[in-house]
Parts: sequence; C-alpha cells; structure tokens
Amino acid sequence: MRKIQEAKNLENKAVFVRCDFNVPMGKNGEILDDTRIVKTIPLIEYLLKKGAKVILASHLDDPGGKFKKELSLEPLQDRLFEYLDVSVWKAPDCIGAKVKKAIDSLKGGEVILLENLRFHPGEEENDLRFAKKLASLAQIYVNEAFGVSHRAHASIATLPKLLPSFAGFLLQEEVKVLSQILQNPKRPLVLVLGGKKAETKIPVIQNFLPKADFILVGGKLVKEGIPFSDKKLILAKLVKSGYDVSKESVLTFQKIIKKAKTIVWNGPMGFFEEKKYFEGTEAIARAIAGAQAFKVAGGGETLEVVKKLKLESKFDFLSTGGGAMLEFLAGKKLPGIEALK
Ligand code: 3PG
Repeated sequence: MRKIQEAKNLENKAVFVRCDFNVPMGKNGEILDDTRIVKTIPLIEYLLKKGAKVILASHLDDPGGKFKKELSLEPLQDRLFEYLDVSVWKAPDCIGAKVKKAIDSLKGGEVILLENLRFHPGEEENDLRFAKKLASLAQIYVNEAFGVSHRAHASIATLPKLLPSFAGFLLQEEVKVLSQILQNPKRPLVLVLGGKKAETKIPVIQNFLPKADFILVGGKLVKEGIPFSDKKLILAKLVKSGYDVSKESVLTFQKIIKKAKTIVWNGPMGFFEEKKYFEGTEAIARAIAGAQAFKVAGGGETLEVVKKLKLESKFDFLSTGGGAMLEFLAGKKLPGIEALK
C-alpha cells in the first residue's frame, strides 16, 4: 500500500480524495455526528499545504443510483468550511462537463466537494466507464474512505487502478491498529454486534466464529434472523415492542463483557434514536467503556452513541468503519485496500 507521504510534486495537481462522509443525518439534514469528517481534515490540510487542488468525493446512504435531494452532500459543505481555513466549492454532480470545468478553474490550495457518488448506478455496479469518468477529473487518487473499502464499488476498487494511487493518513491508521487486533488479540475476545444491515453482518458472524470467544448480538439484527447457531453466539431477547434488548439480556452481556480482554463493538442494541429505547444501548456502551480490555468501537451509529454518552476517551480506538472494520477483523481482504497494492 503506497502512502500519500510518498507522493511527490503535488503542487497544482488535481487530487481525488475518496472519503467516507456517510454520516448520520437528522430529518432536517443536520449532521448528527461528524467524526468521519473530522478524521479526514489532517489529510486535506496536508494536501492543501502541498498546493494540490483537492477534490472530495463520497457517498451518502443509498439513493439507489438516482438523484435524491435529501441525500445531497450539500450540508457537508458548511461543516467542511468550519474545519478548514479555505472556502469549499460544491459541484452539482460528480462527473460531467460542468464538474470538469469547475475543477479546471480551481487553483492549487483550493477544495471542491463533489455530489453523492451513488446518484449514479455505475458507482455501486463498479462500472469501468463510470470509473473512467471519475479518473478524467484528477491526476492522483487517495483512498481516505476506510469505512467503505469493503465495497467493490467504482470509486473504491476500480478508480485507484486508473490513476497513481495512495492511502491517506486515516486509512493507514485504521489498517495499523486493526491489524494488531487481527494478529494477536488478548483473550477473551468478545464481539458485540447490533444495528441492522443483516446481509453485511451475517457473513461477518460466520467469519468471526472461529476467532472470537463470544459474539453478543442485539438490535434489529436479532429480528432479521441469524440462520445458524453456536454456543459462542448469544442472541439477545428483545422487549415486547422489539425496539430494545431485555434487561435479562443486558445482564448476560454485561457479565461476559466484564471478563473480556479485547472488545470489538459495532451497532446499537435497539432503536436508540428514541429515548425510551436507548436503555439497552446505553447500558452495554457503559459496560464496554468500563471493561479492563482493549476496546474498539466502529461504525456511524456506534460513534454517534459513544459521543452522545461522552465515552470517547474510554476507548482505545474509534474506527470510522462499521462493516469495513468487521470484515477486516474477520480476516477478509478489502477491495479498496487490495486496489492500492
Ligand atoms: C458505512 O457507513 O458503513 C459505510 O459508509 C458503507 O456504507 P454502506 O454499508 O451503505 O455501503
């Protein structure tokens, strides 16, 4: 994996930075947690200092290959401006003549934010033609999107093969810390899983079973059905509404978490956005934070919970990856990282 520090002569070069700005958003387009944005700022500042033209690109949620106003990256423009000392231009799309023109008129040391990559079906279909259109915008590619590096999508798996490509600072850090856990975890190793996205998490559970000592599962995932059983795998019982884990399951999970020496946590235990269903998630978050273990949490909603409870300092590492962190720790090769090799 080539590091961005190895790239020479960045002055006036158009650098395409694939970010994971898939941040949790409220109903009125407010950003509920900006950790993923904050963690890319050092790379952007580094590129600006080197005089590069910085092109920021990301997906947001899953618009299904078409334009959806509520999934525009527009709300991110102001937030980026708050953290950077330069104005951030916003492109109306992520490909096309207008976007190319806007990038051509950028000066070294300026930033432009492209529109949601998933407004085009070519992104998720990993379409070569779409990747070539993205490649035509830039001279250099940087992957700073660890959180989406498990997806074989055009801007992640194909674009880096079309341009000189490098790993950003955040990607380098994620790989370094998570590799340590992957190689030599202190035991018991406990995986705490919640949230939704069963299609992503069921294979992760399967891959983790030989590695973990316990896998504790809560959240909507329990309702979505896990198609196998194992004595290491403990599924929470839910309260009547189905929106939170039961007190009995919280106690069971707390006992196991207390004895753990390595804990990996991804996904809330229930419908945490509603105060009355936040109890289970809060109790488990606090139990993990209080354990005498090496503690890693990751994923958009999980980071939101950690921040809400002000538990950031209790964790050894907060990964920007949810599914990506889990797949990496399960020993799978991530297409985004492989493409940089
Ligand atoms: C995430 O939030 O885990 C990443 O941004 C990937 O999003 P996805 O699961 O929609 O591909």
